[in-house]
Amino acid sequence: MSFGAIDVLVDGSAYPVELAPGFHGLGRALAAVLRPGRVFLVSNDVVAPLHAAAAGAELARGGFDVLRVDIPDGESEKTLATWTALVSRLLDLNPDRNTPVVALGGGVTGDLVGFAASSVLRGLPFVQVPTTLLAMVDASVGGKVGVNSAHGKNLVGAFWQPRLVYAPFSALGTLPDAEVRCGLGEVVKHALLSGEDALRELEGDQAALCRRDPAALARAVRASVTCKSAVVAADPRESGVRATLNLGHTLGHAVEQVAGYGRVRHGEAVSIGLVAITRFAERRGWASPGLARRVADLCAGLGLPVQAPGDLDHDELCRAVGFDKKRDRATITLVVPSAPGRVALRPLPIGEVPDLVDSLFDSPSGPTPPTPSEA
Ligand SMILES: NC(=O)c1ccc[n+]([C@@H]2O[C@H](COP(=O)([O-])OP(=O)(O)OC[C@H]3O[C@@H](n4cnc5c(N)ncnc54)[C@H](O)[C@@H]3O)[C@@H](O)[C@H]2O)c1
Ligand SMILES: [Zn+2]
Repeated sequence: MSFGAIDVLVDGSAYPVELAPGFHGLGRALAAVLRPGRVFLVSNDVVAPLHAAAAGAELARGGFDVLRVDIPDGESEKTLATWTALVSRLLDLNPDRNTPVVALGGGVTGDLVGFAASSVLRGLPFVQVPTTLLAMVDASVGGKVGVNSAHGKNLVGAFWQPRLVYAPFSALGTLPDAEVRCGLGEVVKHALLSGEDALRELEGDQAALCRRDPAALARAVRASVTCKSAVVAADPRESGVRATLNLGHTLGHAVEQVAGYGRVRHGEAVSIGLVAITRFAERRGWASPGLARRVADLCAGLGLPVQAPGDLDHDELCRAVGFDKKRDRATITLVVPSAPGRVALRPLPIGEVPDLVDSLFDSPSGPTPPTPSEA
């Protein structure tokens, strides 16, 4: 049984993103794209005890000979040191060019394992089995893999497209609520990028998503993957339109950084950033009136924060925005929404960054919005 598949077209070839109720069918899906043989199933020490046995059994059912490899969990382990240890472990297991590497876990695991897969023997077939909502709707699609360095997040990596993405919805059953909310931040972003129909569908699904209704989750993941895969197909190496996927992220990253990583989670920061950039756009007359209210209501309805914590320092936020990978420039480039499905890249003079940062604190009228959860 499947909730459907979406094909991602990149550089003339395609890979499927299969949305499935659970792990049943993983082996069949892999056998449809790669010849059965040995397969490395790599997971982390949180996800492996929960889901590796089910994933491994299904891969075996598809005719694969499964070799399990465990890596440490957590963003703090998304490093060159962990990558080196993983690459050594995979080489110890004597792969050949056709031995697939399956990443079972959230975005951290997918990024790290994918980067190892891209490097061992100059590239092994890579498979993503995302187990967080964020990884299903965002990280597992698009082929960006990599690790963090002392210089910053995601600064070492590659573009290495998976041969298959298999999203088992049953895995979300063990995911903490806060992690589900983080995924929903990116879901809102994709809906706003997609257009009126997607936004309205998500608005209609708010309550169902809050209670993790499987059909609503499947609709949200499908809509998100459809959006992201179309953007990736148009610009696989981020030389143009793919930058629109940064909608909400310039301000979001600043909030994440100034609050101290972990205090405001990424998806929560994206929600705050989306609402803020839409308010800013509306204030400047670039966005249709009412759009900011609509985005704020949607985020709040999904349990996401819509305002930066009041104790964040304005100057520090300005510095964080100005330094958002665009230092030494007179302007920063913003992804600005004007209507559902319509965004533009707009330069903003550095001198206007304080005004932009103000939008993080604008108080939306209406019910008191939730504040970010403390991690
Ligand atoms: N490559 C891309 O295009 C891309 C896009 C967005 C984000 N990312 C990266 O993704 C990472 C964030 O991913 P994330 O939000 O999935 O975080 P994560 O991978 O750290 O997962 C969050 C936590 O939940 C645990 N977990 C995962 N699945 C679980 C399950 N089913 N049940 C219980 N616990 C589970 C994880 O082990 C971890 O402890 C960041 O490093 C970010 O840079 C990459
Ligand atoms: Zn993001």
